[in-house]
Amino acid sequence: MKPTVAPFPTTRLRRMRQSPALRRLARQNTLSVDDLIWPVFVMDGKDDETPVASMPGVTRKTVNRVVKAAKEAHDLGIPAICIFPYTGMEARTEDCALAWSPDNISNQAIRAIKNAVPEIAVMTDIALDPYNINGHDGFVEDGQIVNDRTVDALVKMALAQAEAGADILGPSDMMDGRIGAIRAALESDGHQNVTILSYTAKYASSFYGPFRDAVGASSALTGDKNTYQMDPGNSDEALRLVERDLSEGADMVMVKPGMPYLDICRRVKDSFGVPTYAYQVSGEYAMVQAAAQNGWLDHDKVMLESLLCFKRAGCDGVLTYFAPAAARLLNG
Ligand code: PBG
Repeated sequence: MKPTVAPFPTTRLRRMRQSPALRRLARQNTLSVDDLIWPVFVMDGKDDETPVASMPGVTRKTVNRVVKAAKEAHDLGIPAICIFPYTGMEARTEDCALAWSPDNISNQAIRAIKNAVPEIAVMTDIALDPYNINGHDGFVEDGQIVNDRTVDALVKMALAQAEAGADILGPSDMMDGRIGAIRAALESDGHQNVTILSYTAKYASSFYGPFRDAVGASSALTGDKNTYQMDPGNSDEALRLVERDLSEGADMVMVKPGMPYLDICRRVKDSFGVPTYAYQVSGEYAMVQAAAQNGWLDHDKVMLESLLCFKRAGCDGVLTYFAPAAARLLNG
């Protein structure tokens, strides 16, 4: 329905913007700590953390420090934390067997967090890239990223994470058929309450650069991920992927990267009305930090504005490295 708008001066749209009280009353979307998922990097070692050069303010942490971060997140009211493992070249193999080891660093972190802070939801990453000698999310045979054999490995990885106590599984690999295969395995293995937040519309993006430094994948990666991640020029394909993942058993869907892809968030939300998330990725974080460090942007204001805009675009939540900083501001 089109609102009746009388001509100026009967209608003065500035009337509703004149005071904080009226602006608050008219505001359609708000950001709260409930909307945040905090991605953290876990590494081997004892009580230590190392900075990620291209992500100022972000560190890789040993398990005990990740547990401390989870406590901090919970105290701030952040509902979920998402674990990404750092693996050096020496731990990477062609068969990626470490990916489904119950004792790999991610699974250790999941167990330790669920032990210390059971209330916080723990999200994982399902993809072979941290464990793969060539940095790809799937197995490589004769220069091709093979789909079906990769899905079998992803299922083993998912079960190990569910066994460790993960609440939300995050398949980020973009193989076809993985959501259905993971869901079926969870059902038959007694993990029917484990949720899946599918990286459904994940684009082949150059905004992931700093993340690949953070997890040690930059030097490992040979070639690009264009045969499995989406083409940045596509939009309709995102809807086909969402429909597919929902039909296979995804509980939540994600658009990634975030800010340059807000149009996709809106289309997904309008078309399906399901829990929809965006990943404000490492490159987006790095851009804001770099500009703020130069005094070119106001860090806090740009951070909160960028996160609010995800809500306006239809997202129910955002994965963001800003989560603790944003939570502190939102909590006053
Ligand atoms: C890997 C994965 C990536 C990110 C999350 N999971 C990188 C990639 O696909 O190469 C990117 C996150 C970020 O840039 O912050 N499966």
